[in-house]
Amino acid sequence: MILRQRPRRLRRDGFRGLVSETTLSSSDFIAPVFVDATTDKRVPIDSMPGHERVPVAEAVDRVEEVLETGIESVIIFGVPESKDSSGSRAWADDGVVQRAVRDITRKTDAFIITDVCMCEYTDHGHCGILEERAHESPTLTVANDATLNRLAQIAISHADAGAQMVAPSSMTDGMVEAIRASLDEHGYEDIPIMSTAAKYESAFYGPFREATEGDPAFSDRRHYQMNSANVREAMQEVALDVEQGADVLMVKPALAYLDVIRAVRKEFDHPVAAYNVSGEYAMLHAAAEKGWLDLDTVARESVLSIKRAGADLILTYFAETIAGSLSKE
Ligand code: PBG
Repeated sequence: MILRQRPRRLRRDGFRGLVSETTLSSSDFIAPVFVDATTDKRVPIDSMPGHERVPVAEAVDRVEEVLETGIESVIIFGVPESKDSSGSRAWADDGVVQRAVRDITRKTDAFIITDVCMCEYTDHGHCGILEERAHESPTLTVANDATLNRLAQIAISHADAGAQMVAPSSMTDGMVEAIRASLDEHGYEDIPIMSTAAKYESAFYGPFREATEGDPAFSDRRHYQMNSANVREAMQEVALDVEQGADVLMVKPALAYLDVIRAVRKEFDHPVAAYNVSGEYAMLHAAAEKGWLDLDTVARESVLSIKRAGADLILTYFAETIAGSLSKE
């Protein structure tokens, strides 16, 4: 049989690697770390097998475990000792993230990113301060502009503790501008902002909310997070964050939004980050536990698809296992 084109020629062992278009490396990954001020021992997160909330005293150990796999950066999430309506523990100098970041900065070389949001700190579980609006639906909603000052205050408290990049994720209009202005005013002009520019109102955040006890006490987040039906709107959100001074543009979640990652990659020259969220991790684990999928292979294939779609930085709960296996290859 004469066939001029035989694509299979390039798929032989020893050659596949040479013609591989996409590669994963441990320097692509940001590992999420949960620090919990309400416990003095590690608490496993049931819906995220292999992940734990660690006490502040073990934050350094936890980060060292990450660094051992070859990953250089972590994003820190906190569970505070108490919650209130204004989320005041989010910017406290002795807050859970601030204490953990101080220790991690002092004792490790990790690149430390912090999540700037309020939902883990408010007793109502929303990502900002609430206000009543009699003639709107919902009547009780996040007060956009009043929340901006709080976010700026949180970012400064993280920078004071030693955070090297801040990642606002509350989907408050104007958040990047408010945080940028405040960082600059405080002498932190070199601290970049990784903005969760296109964050969708997603059911894939379920396990994370269990991990941080950050479920909204009423209603949901669809009056500030994006409608999953929209991609043009995502481009507008991202463009606004670029204008406001964002350094890295994040799309979240990742797997159900690969088209959005690709669209942002094509339109903007900034680094693009993608957050492979908790539910995307949990579903592969659940299927693997039933023996229906091979965990390591599907994890690798999923994360590779995020990179192929156009992400430069990948936040994933698979970071450590994948980096660990890359280092053995
Ligand atoms: C908000 C925040 C959330 C996640 C990261 N930051 C939850 C939310 O918006 O409800 C979800 C990440 C994940 O599911 O892994 N601070």
